Amino acid sequence: MIQCFIFDLDGVLVNTSIYHFRAWQKIALQLNIPFTEADNERLKGLSREDSLQTLLQVGGMSIGQEEAEALLNQKNRIYLDLIAQIDESAVLPGVRIVLSRLKQSACPLVLASSSKNAKFVIQKTGLEDFFNEVVDGHQISKPKPNPEIFLTAAFLAGVQAKNCLVFEDAAAGVKAAKSAGMRCIGIGEKEPLKEADFVFSDFTRFSPEILFELYRSV
Ligand code: BG6
Ligand code: MG
Repeated sequence: MIQCFIFDLDGVLVNTSIYHFRAWQKIALQLNIPFTEADNERLKGLSREDSLQTLLQVGGMSIGQEEAEALLNQKNRIYLDLIAQIDESAVLPGVRIVLSRLKQSACPLVLASSSKNAKFVIQKTGLEDFFNEVVDGHQISKPKPNPEIFLTAAFLAGVQAKNCLVFEDAAAGVKAAKSAGMRCIGIGEKEPLKEADFVFSDFTRFSPEILFELYRSV
């Protein structure tokens, strides 16, 4: 039985992944690290700190704690500048209708995002009221692919992990959901999300009715 729907934010509900990418690109340029969209795929879903470490790995570099702190702050300032004007138009196609339909079910809807800016983004995009609970980067100590974020989401919703369904666009997020013992639908390209139960290119391809077919137990 699916009793709780858990949503990642960046790249699942809103089109902010491109702004994270652009911000990391600027940092990469500053560090002289060639950084492509394919490299960025590895950063998706990771915390800000783990993203920086992954970027440094791509460039075969290591830096001290102080420089790392400065780069993390700089990346966030660039990202916040890029999303300063964000509004309802950043919500991805099909998302609002799916959230509205799932909201009519008795199941809680929980946001589970690695981002420390998640609350700001759901407020600005008008998504806040859909969620019964929000877990963001401030509340977790072990970021995705660790299952902590999704287990916290399930705990707050009062639902067992096996009865939760997670929507994710990142390989690290799919891994976290599966390690939590949850069902998981990938949103995006099939290849990076191959560990998900099913993958849809976006929410216009998905409807709550499909869940009956897919899992036959909702
Ligand atoms: C995730 C994004 O949702 O949040 C990552 O997929 C991002 O790209 C991470 O690095 C942390 O976000 P923030 O806003 O706390 O830097
Ligand atoms: Mg994401």
